[in-house]
Amino acid sequence: MYCLRSLLILFYTLHLTCGWGDVGHRTVAYLAEKYLTKQATQLVEDLIPLNDTFDISDAAVWPDKVKFRRPFTRNWHYIDAVDQPPNSCAVSYEADCNDGCIISAIDNMVMQDLDLDKKKQGEALNFLIHFIGDLHQPLHVENKCRGGNEIHVHFDNHGGEKENLHSVWDTDIPHKILGIKHRLKQNEEKEPAEKWATKLFQSQGLRPLHAECADTQKPMKCSMLWAAETNRLNCDYVFKKGIEWLTENDLGGEYYEGAAPIVETQILKAGIRLAAWLNALAADKASSGGHCTPQGGKVKAQKELK
Ligand code: ADE
Ligand code: ZN
Ligand code: ZN
Repeated sequence: MYCLRSLLILFYTLHLTCGWGDVGHRTVAYLAEKYLTKQATQLVEDLIPLNDTFDISDAAVWPDKVKFRRPFTRNWHYIDAVDQPPNSCAVSYEADCNDGCIISAIDNMVMQDLDLDKKKQGEALNFLIHFIGDLHQPLHVENKCRGGNEIHVHFDNHGGEKENLHSVWDTDIPHKILGIKHRLKQNEEKEPAEKWATKLFQSQGLRPLHAECADTQKPMKCSMLWAAETNRLNCDYVFKKGIEWLTENDLGGEYYEGAAPIVETQILKAGIRLAAWLNALAADKASSGGHCTPQGGKVKAQKELK
């Protein structure tokens, strides 16, 4: 009995802090891939050992797989903005980043010492691909009820299973948009993610890649802008109806209808912004001969990257 309880508790905590579900992360990566310059494609191929079974979308979900082996990476996936949605929304690096958060993690990944060995640079790239995705999930930029993890809700009554608001945004909404099962095996995720990425790419017509912020010299400037934009969604939609309403209604109905276009837009933005950053990083690296940071000076190797 004790064992069963411990197992259940472990299972519950494992469920607490995923990023977008795997399908969302894979889609962001496949979408970004479509916008990469030759130089950036080369950089990705140089740093990530891609093969028939490991593609850029596997790189995107890798940081969730190592969370358990590297518990110190857990708080790199979010920033706990202490605010009061739906009445007030705000995120501050100084007040909310505590002992490390998604903003400092992105900064560290972008500013990696390029003299680190390839494996470590590859890991940094995996983290970057993943965190740009997480930064666009509203509940990853929110402290309230641990980013919605503690708000128990219903979503299409999945076998009577209770969900939490966080996983509704990570997984249930994306899966419903794609018309796929609640739970998928890993090898069932790639095809719907590819299709979603293609659809989002086509939605942009022939518009060339344009991200309003691609300043890799000051990664925090862009990431804080995006964090503020994502955080705002908690007031404008995620918590708008109040926690009581959220817990008393099935979120697979009208709530889903309003949330789906927000999720599509966030995944689209994440893919485009990631691509713009990878293109800029690849250009920086080429112009520095691959031995200096974008600023031309050596930057700290990230001590946590073991
Ligand atoms: N744990 C605590 N806050 C969190 C958040 N905003 N997102 C994911 N996991 C968390
Ligand atoms: Zn999550
Ligand atoms: Zn994550």
